[in-house]
Amino acid sequence: MSRRERASRGLETTVAEAISLDHVTFRFGTHVAVDDLTLTVHPGECFGLLGPNGAGKTTTIRIINTLLNMQEGAVTVFGIDVRTRSMAVRRQLGYVPQQLSIEGALTARENVSWFARLYDVPRSERRARVDEVLEMVDLSDAADRLASGFSGGMVRRLELAQALVNRPALLVLDEPTVGLDPVARDSVWQRVAQMQAEYGMTVLLTTHYMEEADELCDRVALMHNGRLAEVGTPAQLKAAQGEGASLEDVFRAHTGADLGAESGKGGLRSVRTTRRTARRMG
Ligand SMILES: Nc1ncnc2c1ncn2[C@@H]1O[C@H](COP(=O)(O)OP(=O)(O)OP(=O)(O)O)[C@@H](O)[C@H]1O
Ligand SMILES: [Mg+2]
Repeated sequence: MSRRERASRGLETTVAEAISLDHVTFRFGTHVAVDDLTLTVHPGECFGLLGPNGAGKTTTIRIINTLLNMQEGAVTVFGIDVRTRSMAVRRQLGYVPQQLSIEGALTARENVSWFARLYDVPRSERRARVDEVLEMVDLSDAADRLASGFSGGMVRRLELAQALVNRPALLVLDEPTVGLDPVARDSVWQRVAQMQAEYGMTVLLTTHYMEEADELCDRVALMHNGRLAEVGTPAQLKAAQGEGASLEDVFRAHTGADLGAESGKGGLRSVRTTRRTARRMG
């Protein structure tokens, strides 16, 4: 969104960080899911939140997008306080959740139209916007088919269309490519990159595919046990790890045994991934 557009919506015109987290702590009961997290995401940046299962990535995202109530610390999105102005924050946001968010009994077009209404896209523009985003994610031909018959990749692209229909200044993607084949993964990322280039969107994403994060993200943060272990450009983190190191090496160095225990081949991680995909397609 341009500064003029932001001003016309009554938002701060000073250049604010896209996301600012200041000493954020979040507990589920006595369990500390996010532990004193301080982090900023710059406008226009593609930022990757990385970390093993249970690191606190989704919890952090749900605090940013106002789906969880703040407990300790402060969070702003383009300078807007999530605690006091959650609706204004939501208007800035497009969100692809880790879990299923489409309605199988509706067509692709109906799913996106529903989001357009939900996110206050003006009635006169809705039809054109819905067509535009369906085209972007290459679902025009399937627009009037029921989503229940879609493949996993089509579902993810439909979710992306929903998240983009209000032209968000900040796009938040929680594992958008889990369970997809390599071609479908590429196609999701290509669309995100295209949107980012066209609209100057800020993107916050999580992924367990380190090579994706390396390629796509301007900066990444590594979370472990709710805490920030490392933040920087992929190049910086790899260089600090040692010559020839990959982002996966950096990940392993910071998260140690957890990666093997939970994310290893055939482990709990892959079971969960399969389940999620199955649920999404079911
Ligand atoms: N609704 C909840 N109630 C209780 N505990 C929760 C809840 N949601 C998350 N947690 C716990 O908080 C911690 C962080 O979970 P979170 O979902 O943020 O992790 P994550 O980094 O997104 O993991 P994954 O890679 O598996 O998606 C975990 O220990 C998890 O069990
Ligand atoms: Mg998660």
